[in-house]
Amino acid sequence: TVEAERAKSENKLKMSENNAISLYDILFNLFKKAISVAYPDVSDPPVIIISNSNERFGDYQCNSAMALSKQLKSDGITAKPRGVAENIVSKVEGSNLISKLEVAGAGFINIYLKKEFAQKTLNTLVKNGKILPPYIKKQKVIVDFSSPNIAKEMHVGHLRSTIIGDSIARLLEFLGHDVLRINHVGDWGTQFGMLIAHLQDRFPDYLSVSPPIADLQSFYKESKARFDTDEEFKKRAYNCVVKLQTSNPDMIKAWQLICDVSRKEFEKIYTRLDIKLIERGESFYQKHMETIVKDLEAKGLLEEDEGRKVMFSKRDNEIPLTIVKSDGGFTYDTSDMAAIKQRVEEEKADWVIYVTDAGQSMHFQVLKHCAERAGILKSCHRIDHVGFGVVLGNDKKKFKTRSGETVKLSDLLDEGLKRTLEKLKERERDKVLTEEELKIAQESIAYGCIKYADLSHNRNHEYIFSFDKMLEDKGNTAVYLLYALTRIRSIARTANISQEKLREMAENIPISLEHEKEWKLAKVLIKFPDVLIKITNDLYLHHLCEYCYEISCVFTEFYNNCYCLEKNDLGEIVNVNMSRILLTEATAIIMEQCFSILGLKSVAHM
Ligand code: ARG
Repeated sequence: TVEAERAKSENKLKMSENNAISLYDILFNLFKKAISVAYPDVSDPPVIIISNSNERFGDYQCNSAMALSKQLKSDGITAKPRGVAENIVSKVEGSNLISKLEVAGAGFINIYLKKEFAQKTLNTLVKNGKILPPYIKKQKVIVDFSSPNIAKEMHVGHLRSTIIGDSIARLLEFLGHDVLRINHVGDWGTQFGMLIAHLQDRFPDYLSVSPPIADLQSFYKESKARFDTDEEFKKRAYNCVVKLQTSNPDMIKAWQLICDVSRKEFEKIYTRLDIKLIERGESFYQKHMETIVKDLEAKGLLEEDEGRKVMFSKRDNEIPLTIVKSDGGFTYDTSDMAAIKQRVEEEKADWVIYVTDAGQSMHFQVLKHCAERAGILKSCHRIDHVGFGVVLGNDKKKFKTRSGETVKLSDLLDEGLKRTLEKLKERERDKVLTEEELKIAQESIAYGCIKYADLSHNRNHEYIFSFDKMLEDKGNTAVYLLYALTRIRSIARTANISQEKLREMAENIPISLEHEKEWKLAKVLIKFPDVLIKITNDLYLHHLCEYCYEISCVFTEFYNNCYCLEKNDLGEIVNVNMSRILLTEATAIIMEQCFSILGLKSVAHM
């Protein structure tokens, strides 16, 4: 297997001509091999590699020796951690990545990287004008996100799902996966019977015209109230659902008109935020629901419970899914069971990601376990529920308008635009930029800051929606980063060096990493593939935001210490350090790629 490992890592290096290299991956494999050669009798030895922010301890560190020494001790072998570390170091194969290994302290192995590797990587990057993704095994991934409900308001929770889901999809697309972005809208079920029955009384034109959106939501509330109190109405509503679900043409027509109104409202938000997704709501699964109920029944997986048919996951503390209601109707659970089967079996999905508020985590946990129990999911499938905390207002209470109503998303976006314009005017940008440039900057900042504020926080936490905070131009905010990138890009522009020229230069001028700050910046830049791989594992996008912020801070250190352009007293450029200009371009390319994954639009002038 040592041979196989070697073949694998050689293959990886070959692949790397077309892909960015994950340093972590390579170091992990090198040390894994060294440890297994040094301690062939230890089964499954711990391979612990971390990246260091404090250079005194090397660029990376292998911390396996301490754990290994403990493990050996329990096998009756005494070996001091330092000795174990030295033994491992002696077995690490030569590599074009490592300049030096040293054993320090209690048994830490400090790993120092070679400059040549970083230099080559960065030169190639600028030459290509883009960063390639690290190598991954291509998979079919379904990202189920946004998913508002027809006839109801799309609220800030759906906005979070939309922003997070889009960014996850962008990341996976960049990595080369085959991604299907699905909008699982709530467009089916009893509520549509209610709504149509109510329209029959209050909006007689319901078969030919869509009710106006503002009325639709109040119709919805009124119909719900009638449904809960009026028996005759309830019967008629049920009657309508049954007709709808058996494709009665009138009912379908009315339902389609209702869906259209909501759809147009949702579309407006998606267009403004540049979000692409395919609508495939609960109604899509009607036939699939009928089939899955029969399937589950035939397999003996459904149990009677006060007239309902439920399915247990057979795991401790898990509530069952309701597959058929006592009135014979289907539920949210039924549609998700049908959908997961359709996604795995028809779409051939390897991986399904659901992005909703954390309140639904139990639902998705039970769904996964039930789908496993039903034999739909196999061990090769990956299912993630990407949950997130509630959105709070500045007062730390649930996000509402002053008068206590839910905030309309379009109003929210409008306010973002308004506030951004005020800020730009405060800085007198309106005097420098053309009208068109100003508009581009305004939209990019407003929408960018709303997305970034969401993505830069750990998604599990509650999140306080505050325009004041997100529009700050200091700290880890979209405004700060967008300005940083614009400034970086303006360096080459000031020196009159075009993008084409930069690419050409990258072929002939090696990027020097002699200065301590150049080297520090380079090391941050080549971490990019590692950052993406980590996010692919845990689906926490705030790591990427932190990484962007790190790049821009380390870039500032570099820029303050290393001149790129030298000017005389008249402000004329007298000397251009080409190698450093290339390093600024490499920085810009990576930041731009991060922005693209986060859904931010960079601007040339702001
Ligand atoms: N419509 C649901 C809601 O507003 C979200 C649907 C999420 N996707 C799913 N497959 N259940 O909460």
